[in-house]
Amino acid sequence: MSATFDFSGKNVFVVGGTSGINFGIAQGFARWGAKVMVASRSTDKVEAAVAGLRELGAEASGTAFDVRDAEAVTEGFKAAVDFFGGPIDILVSGAAGNFPAKLNDMSANAIRSVVDIDLMGTFHVMKAAHEHLAKPGASVINISAPQAFLPMSYQAHVCAAKAGVDMVTRSLALEWGRDGIRVNSIVPGPIADTEGMDRLAPTPEIKEAVTKSVPIGRMGGVDDIAKAAGYLSSDAGAYVSGVVLPVDGGWSQAGATSVMSKMAHMMDKMMAN
Ligand code: COA
Ligand code: NAP
Repeated sequence: MSATFDFSGKNVFVVGGTSGINFGIAQGFARWGAKVMVASRSTDKVEAAVAGLRELGAEASGTAFDVRDAEAVTEGFKAAVDFFGGPIDILVSGAAGNFPAKLNDMSANAIRSVVDIDLMGTFHVMKAAHEHLAKPGASVINISAPQAFLPMSYQAHVCAAKAGVDMVTRSLALEWGRDGIRVNSIVPGPIADTEGMDRLAPTPEIKEAVTKSVPIGRMGGVDDIAKAAGYLSSDAGAYVSGVVLPVDGGWSQAGATSVMSKMAHMMDKMMAN
């Protein structure tokens, strides 16, 4: 990774940080000298992620909880500050669930599972976090998605949940600003080699169409998102709060809308087989 920041002495907690984009963010902060804690449901994934962060030379730890369980989240935050021995400087909240499905094919429980993880999970994480955040100085980053502002077939549940996440971001930027806490969302574009991309672009044909639709001509990597998190949490981002920041090679400006109906058509074909 070419960009460099100095986060030595900083405590970073990445919720949902054991794979994909969020693990990439945790790795970024580990490389930049921070003490890093990660959390997700699977203890195996937590252990593997912690081992990966330690390989980078970071002091790292992890804890397992489901963001749908408010009490477990509260306990997870206590474990985090025990490990850090002080307040949290940077909080990244990115746990999410997604599967492509049309509304008519989803049960109430299917819709609820995504809304509970993405939106209620964000509320639980924010509520548990506040007392443990550095005041002043903390940087909070919610990981959103283009679905928050671009309607997408097969994604009504995710669109609604992520739109809610961004309004939580913007509201808390107001409520927590006086504490000296900045709250922002990062909106990753299509990021290669991730679970989310594999679920939404499940065939090479769909992946190629998506890649071609990105104005700068490539899918992103997890390090592109880590660098944006580094910027927002560094002194360079000291006056940035309440922002919903697409990091997507321009995709949400043009490419997304041009490829959306094509993706839906290819998905229709795939689902019919
Ligand atoms: N189409 C329609 N409904 C689906 C579905 C699909 N492709 N996949 C799951 N569901 C439904 C299930 O049938 C269930 O509903 P039901 O009880 O009425 O049958 C409901 O969703 C919950 O599924 P379950 O597997 O019990 O939930 P879970 O809590 O174990 O997992 C998910 C949550 C479904 C979001 C799962 O995909 C997950 O864990 N995702 C995390 C990883 C991920 O999505 N990464 C990408 C992030 S962008
Ligand atoms: P991923 O690898 O599946 O990451 C999801 C993470 O959240 C995992 O660590 C997972 O670990 C954890 N998680 C899921 N459900 C949880 C729950 N209920 N409680 C606690 N942790 C939970 O997916 P990804 O594609 O990298 O996506 C990461 C984030 O980026 C998501 O917020 C997603 O919406 C966003 N995003 C992704 C893309 C993309 O191109 N991939 C684009 C835009 C936005 P466990 O399974 O152990 O719980």
